[in-house]
Amino acid sequence: MSCTIIVGGFFGDEGKGKIVAHVAFKDKPVIISRGGVGPNAGHTVTVGREEFGVRMVPSGFVYKDAKLCIGSGVLVDPRVLKQEVDRLHVRGRVFVDFRCGIITEDHITRDKGSAHLAKTIGSTGSGCGPANADRVMRVAPQAQDVPELAEYLLDVPEAIDGALKAGNVVLLEGTQGFGISLYYGTYPYVTSKDTSASQIAADNGVGPTRIDDVIVVFKAYPTRVGEGPFSTEMSAATSDAMGIEEFGTVTHRKRRIGGWDGGMARYSAMINGCTQAAVTGIDRVDKACFGVTEYKKLTKKAKDFVTMAQDDIGCPVTLISTGPEISQIIDMRGEFS
Ligand code: IMP
Ligand code: MG
Repeated sequence: MSCTIIVGGFFGDEGKGKIVAHVAFKDKPVIISRGGVGPNAGHTVTVGREEFGVRMVPSGFVYKDAKLCIGSGVLVDPRVLKQEVDRLHVRGRVFVDFRCGIITEDHITRDKGSAHLAKTIGSTGSGCGPANADRVMRVAPQAQDVPELAEYLLDVPEAIDGALKAGNVVLLEGTQGFGISLYYGTYPYVTSKDTSASQIAADNGVGPTRIDDVIVVFKAYPTRVGEGPFSTEMSAATSDAMGIEEFGTVTHRKRRIGGWDGGMARYSAMINGCTQAAVTGIDRVDKACFGVTEYKKLTKKAKDFVTMAQDDIGCPVTLISTGPEISQIIDMRGEFS
């Protein structure tokens, strides 16, 4: 049995979705359950030529043998959930903890209408901040209050407990990134909740003693969407010249691009209790590494980057992503366990 948490080490969009999908195919979890804030998250998973964007459904959905759960800490927008369930054909596999907080139209209006949230912070406008505020004020509805969600309701912690007791694998998927944690990020330019591994465990009702592994995902060239400090940010001219351009999955805003931040990587690994790290976008460090699936086939430049990253993080880098497609990955986890 094993319970693994996968979280983002920088400012989000590190490629967690792809790492979750790969680990799911490899480790065959019976449950993939997500924590994190809510539909402000956007994950992209590319399988073959098909690209899927998800905001509510766990990004491990491409692995068809797992139950897909949404933990009680997560905010659910029933409209976004329904659209995704239909588009991804995952009806019958998706479950929502009955205690999840609900995002209403009013939360979205308040998020988009607030100059502080929409402009100063640069929120995603998905209603998460106001919904979490209402949750703290104990006036937000819960999933069990919404008739359209009746078919999805589950006690997620109990389901996870059962899976672990039966000796099965469970994956807990984080959203957002360490740098926008309400507690540890660049406050006030952060999201409306902690985003670290402990929070992802709590979101799913899994106690800390039951977590076996925490995989923290770092992007070789970190990105940030929205406002706030970004110490290693490059000018758009520099990142454009490097051929790096990215747009947000939820808001389609252009992402700010930065260089590797070793200090942040180490601090993030510490607070997340990192046991293994994943480095994504190594093909941006050296284009010659695109699609490589064996460590020995990486170029010296890429290997030097991984060594540097590992020294900064202070944990073995066991997963290296070499392109967007889920098979473009080097998995060395077996060599470290
Ligand atoms: P909110 O979470 O929509 O309130 O937005 C607060 C800040 O967090 C903004 O800077 C957003 O761009 C950022 N943010 C929220 N969710 C994500 C995410 O999944 N990836 C990247 N940035 C995010
Ligand atoms: Mg994203």
